[in-house]
Amino acid sequence: MTYLAPNSVQARDIASIVHPQTHLARHLEQGPVVIQRGRGCYVYDDNGTEYLDTAAGLWCASLGYASERLARVAYEQMRMLGYYHLYRGTTNETGVDLAEKLLQIAPEAHGGRMSKVLFQCSGSEANDTAIKLVWYYHAAIGKPEKRKIIGRKMGYHGSTSASISASGKADMHADFGLPFPGFLHTEYPHWYRLHAEGESEEQFATRMAAALEDLILREGPETCAAFIAEPVMGAGGGLTPPRTYWDKMQAVIRKYDMLFIADEVICGFGRTGNMWGSQTYDLKPDMITCAKALSAGMQPISALLINDRVFQAMLDESNKLGNFAHGFTYAGHPVTTAVAMETLRIYEEMDMLGHVAQVGPHLQRSLACLLDHPLVGEVRGVGLMNGIELVADKVTRAQFDPARGLGAVVDRYARENGLITRFVGDRIAFSPPLIITEPEIDEAVARITRALDTAWRDIRLT
Ligand SMILES: Cc1ncc(COP(=O)(O)O)c(C=O)c1O
Repeated sequence: MTYLAPNSVQARDIASIVHPQTHLARHLEQGPVVIQRGRGCYVYDDNGTEYLDTAAGLWCASLGYASERLARVAYEQMRMLGYYHLYRGTTNETGVDLAEKLLQIAPEAHGGRMSKVLFQCSGSEANDTAIKLVWYYHAAIGKPEKRKIIGRKMGYHGSTSASISASGKADMHADFGLPFPGFLHTEYPHWYRLHAEGESEEQFATRMAAALEDLILREGPETCAAFIAEPVMGAGGGLTPPRTYWDKMQAVIRKYDMLFIADEVICGFGRTGNMWGSQTYDLKPDMITCAKALSAGMQPISALLINDRVFQAMLDESNKLGNFAHGFTYAGHPVTTAVAMETLRIYEEMDMLGHVAQVGPHLQRSLACLLDHPLVGEVRGVGLMNGIELVADKVTRAQFDPARGLGAVVDRYARENGLITRFVGDRIAFSPPLIITEPEIDEAVARITRALDTAWRDIRLT
């Protein structure tokens, strides 16, 4: 058991906080790492140790860890109107500004343009709301039996009961009695790990679309309401889709008249090199959820964009019922919308898309050099998002025994080298702040290489 001084932040933490995604018993023994301050792409713990954060926190700190300009906007907004809601027809100007801006920059939607915006505080709530609207939509058009939501194995859409049900994360369902009935999961497009010997990316994509179609036919198309997916899978390990995957998947979704929710919570606002992952992969969704980089992670805000087909159905149904009976106290909170609006202005002023277009290829090229490393089987990415697959045998693609926890070992060595990464099993995902520079990318690659070398040394010694 680590000694923690009484009254230290660590001791007070373990006495008071239950942490998300944490081994609770081990945490009580070891205590937390206290992150005290941040600057640019770096954060510092209470010993002054510096970490270069290639995870952008949780894929969200697009502008790094401190901003005088966003702080001032939040301060001014709190002085003028620190809270109001959007219930029962009230509004405020920053919310309207942000909704207009989002509709202006939104990608093409199925059947035309995105039509309206709903605000929430988190990605989970945005996806939860999207799922409710799927049900509401089908009730409105006279197909209330069309309720099943199809996600993908390893997909991640949040931690609320419905959004985690749509997610394909068995570890996050266990002992919560989830997923709810009516939430199904099709195959996920991990090309490197799951393709058969000799199967091309295109053939693999055809197989993925056929698996989706089989699932719909097995369940009954008249019961299948929507498909939800991330353009690039983040919490699945930074998985970019194989060639032709999205064209083929979208054809199946449309064939069975299902709605398509693109979860852009990670991909939105430049992560994949375009403003939206939907533009990078030519998706035409009915709804888009976004959060994280929307406010550079500095305020809890998410947005759900819906196309006109969905909005018109909502209009009819709420007319019939006398009210649109849904909402959150903090939806469209003026401080969150003001900070998000300023974040989008900063992106434009700094030409954030131009910056990602310049440094993204540098990240991809630099990480590709890791393919020479004995532990690395695949390096694959787009924009400022990448996944590195660790393997025991590069020829057979055999994995290490999961009990070895190689991803966690590499993560620990990375931290010892001043680097924060995000590992999913034996896959290391890279998603640095969007402001990262080429020298910082070089530094990150040097540090992850040292961590991999140390892990490889351990393996040879055992
Ligand atoms: C793709 C995706 N959707 C939804 C969420 C949930 O967002 P939040 O944690 O803000 O609820 C996440 C979180 O990482 C995510 O990666």
